[in-house]
Amino acid sequence: MNKITPPEPLRAGHDTSHFNCGQAPLNEFLQRHALDKQNAMLSRTYAVTSSARGSEGIGKGVMVVGYYTLTHAIVSQTEAPKKLARGMPSSIPVLLMARFAVDLRFQGQGLGRSLFTDAIRRTWAVMESGAAPLRFFIVDAKDEAAKAFYGRFDMIPAPENTLRLYLSYKTLRQLFGETVT
Ligand SMILES: CC(C)(COP(=O)(O)OP(=O)(O)OC[C@H]1O[C@@H](n2cnc3c(N)ncnc32)[C@H](O)[C@@H]1OP(=O)(O)O)[C@@H](O)C(=O)NCCC(=O)NCCS
Repeated sequence: MNKITPPEPLRAGHDTSHFNCGQAPLNEFLQRHALDKQNAMLSRTYAVTSSARGSEGIGKGVMVVGYYTLTHAIVSQTEAPKKLARGMPSSIPVLLMARFAVDLRFQGQGLGRSLFTDAIRRTWAVMESGAAPLRFFIVDAKDEAAKAFYGRFDMIPAPENTLRLYLSYKTLRQLFGETVT
């Protein structure tokens, strides 16, 4: 049986060459851009790996089978869901999960759920530490199927752009802690 590692920051020793989630732009981002952007401090990618080899047996060993990418963003008060943004200033700091994918061979086994949980737990850790202010965790669903996945986690769609979904720090506090007011 293949052992899946806990999420860790993407590094040069990770083999991304076989990654295929069924969405070419998400494969290409991981294979060509994720590490450069991380080294440039523009985003951070967390990867889970498996010791499974590629179907042709040519994998290098620590094969990435799922990942997500976090970056900072600013949303305007008017674009956020009204019930979350009431009384907020015009610009609101958020953490954006900019990319998220699981290899086709590993989908439907709970890996997406566990990666997503890891992403919101890390977001909560930043909020709770007070190291940088963050009001929301947000994602841009690629399509209605992805939106349905995020809907399972009680994310709230923006009124105009309904593929952009929000989780507030209050929800994260309910899930993970009680210390931030
Ligand atoms: C979306 C994605 C990351 C989910 O990963 P996964 O490992 O298959 O998800 P899981 O097995 O952890 O599923 C978690 C739950 O979500 C459900 N789910 C999975 N995909 C779903 C979808 N498209 N719509 C609705 N529910 C979905 C599962 O049934 C499961 O429910 P359960 O816990 O009640 O059994 C994966 O399908 C993927 O990489 N898709 C292609 C890339 C993509 O669309 N990324 C999102 C970009 S915004």
